[in-house]
Amino acid sequence: MKHFAVSGAIPSEPVLGPQETLKKDQDGMSAQGFKRFRRRAPAAAAPSSAEAEAEHRLAAPSAPGSSQLPATLPEPWNRIRQIPFDTGTGAQNHLPLVSRFRTAPAAKSFDLLRTRLLHTLKARGWKRVAVTAPTAGCGTTFSVVNLALSLARVPGSRTMLMDMNFRRPGVAQAMGIPVQADMGAFLSGAVPLEEHLLRPLPSLAVGLNAAAGQDAAEILHSSSCGAVLDELMLHSDADTALFDLPPVLEHDDTAAFLPQVDGVLLISDGTASTAAQLAACEKMLAGHTQLLGVVLNRARKADSPLV
Ligand SMILES: Nc1ncnc2c1ncn2[C@@H]1O[C@H](COP(=O)(O)OP(=O)(O)O)[C@@H](O)[C@H]1O
Ligand SMILES: [Mg+2]
Repeated sequence: MKHFAVSGAIPSEPVLGPQETLKKDQDGMSAQGFKRFRRRAPAAAAPSSAEAEAEHRLAAPSAPGSSQLPATLPEPWNRIRQIPFDTGTGAQNHLPLVSRFRTAPAAKSFDLLRTRLLHTLKARGWKRVAVTAPTAGCGTTFSVVNLALSLARVPGSRTMLMDMNFRRPGVAQAMGIPVQADMGAFLSGAVPLEEHLLRPLPSLAVGLNAAAGQDAAEILHSSSCGAVLDELMLHSDADTALFDLPPVLEHDDTAAFLPQVDGVLLISDGTASTAAQLAACEKMLAGHTQLLGVVLNRARKADSPLV
């Protein structure tokens, strides 16, 4: 997987959740503290044109005239099973899906984050983004699901959302999709993508994870995991892939998975994450991947540019 110069162009602005917490813990990070961790792009790295072109060539029809064969299968994306999904009603026990409130500041924040993320990814020819946090409960799953739904609203796009959290998988529950999916089996190559993935929206495919695995870091570190994800990106022709990962400071799973992604979005909890925790995450990621930005979840109203 490719590595490029530090980018960090994206999330200069904090994301404000729909139930933003006005009260801040003493240990919580101030807006000033957060600003210290905002990243600005020092220089644009050269786009990975060679790899992008190679992928494009490989994705193209293999033989002239093959489309005239009597029976052609639909392409892999269209073979992924579509399932009913309703962003318009509030089923219980799900994470708040801000797409239900498109005019709310939180929904606008995710759309803003999406646009900035897409600009950065497009400029560099990147597609794969890990989303993680210093500690559990910061809102990684909340953020990654809402960001994926926002990305999926881009006309003509394809977004992939993969639950790589073997410690506490949460995407299925957040989206209200009852499923017994075995991400470990998929990453080992035992289950084909059409069987593992589901499409809650025509432009969004999700890879869910039902069982917490004991050997999570080993699965994410394995060569089969890399090969399966390469094939997934190639055959699905997805524009963007988001990976929900466990907290950086609690497990080494995210560190093991870094070679598979182009960059990382770090979710900080405005009521709980500390400057020291963010510094520790930054140190862990440095030299291994690009920190695309730090997103401030549960921001105070005063921290939001949209209120
Ligand atoms: N901005 C927010 N507004 C409202 N609820 C939130 C927000 N961020 C997170 N939550 C809630 O906090 C809990 C933990 O969030 P989650 O995304 O599961 O954290 P993580 O994946 O980092 O462990 C969930 O119940 C989620 O609904
Ligand atoms: Mg989670």
